[in-house]
Amino acid sequence: MLQIKNLNKHYGKKQALFDFEMTFKNGVYGLLGPNGAGKSTLMNIISDNLAPDLGSQLCWNGTDITKLGSKFRRKVGYMPQQQALYDNFTARRFMMYISALKGISTAVAREQTEYLLSEVELHDVMDKAIGGFSGGMKQRVLVAQSLLGSPELVLLDEPTAGLDPKQRVIIRDMIHKTAKDKIVLVSTHIVSDVETIADEIIIMKQGRIAANGTVEQLVSVLPHERRTLENAYMLHFPEKNTAGGAIDENSSV
Ligand SMILES: Nc1ncnc2c1ncn2[C@@H]1O[C@H](COP(=O)(O)OP(=O)(O)OP(=O)(O)O)[C@@H](O)[C@H]1O
Ligand SMILES: [Mg+2]
Repeated sequence: MLQIKNLNKHYGKKQALFDFEMTFKNGVYGLLGPNGAGKSTLMNIISDNLAPDLGSQLCWNGTDITKLGSKFRRKVGYMPQQQALYDNFTARRFMMYISALKGISTAVAREQTEYLLSEVELHDVMDKAIGGFSGGMKQRVLVAQSLLGSPELVLLDEPTAGLDPKQRVIIRDMIHKTAKDKIVLVSTHIVSDVETIADEIIIMKQGRIAANGTVEQLVSVLPHERRTLENAYMLHFPEKNTAGGAIDENSSV
């Protein structure tokens, strides 16, 4: 269980997160919000790659994550929004390399590399250089690496960005399948990525939680004929001409 309290984050004078509070239990959490809402900042902090403001509390099963240090980081799988891939590495070698960084034994790494790359439908090309992969294939390698070492907490920052509908479905199914017995936090601009698989949705707006709950709870405030998550999301972004986030399936982010 991950418990977050009084989480604030300033970048200089700019405040990106305001008193964020949330308790994450096993399940899939869909993190929605327009550009600049604070999604990546939140994931960077949870993955212990970015320090929050003093006084912020993040506890893993009751213990502060800063006290747990590497013990906590070993439980985390993270796919950052921007990540460099080694173009001259093959997919297999990249997975083995990340495994080594995570301290996973070679035997386990081999097995998991085969399994995870099959799951993202890259088994046939695992010995080809990543440099020749399409954007979607690279994205799938990155999702696969986040699951190495059977993490208990998985953070996926826009795993479906730039993917075509079929590839998005592959990623969505994989998240759904691997989400058992772990906490999975997925940020996206595409409501349909998480609508059917998330146990809970968190809608962020300007560094604050605008709404959270199950899809059912979030749509329950709408008239029956308008009960979609997309409509529930748009309730929080009524301003005209301001992008409430590219939540249309056809728009890219
Ligand atoms: N390194 C930084 N220095 C200064 N400001 C930053 C930095 N990183 C993020 N910010 C600001 O913090 C706010 C939250 O940014 P963040 O990247 O967390 O949003 P996001 O929800 O992930 O957006 P997107 O959907 O575009 O990825 C934004 O106003 C952004 O400009
Ligand atoms: Mg982001």
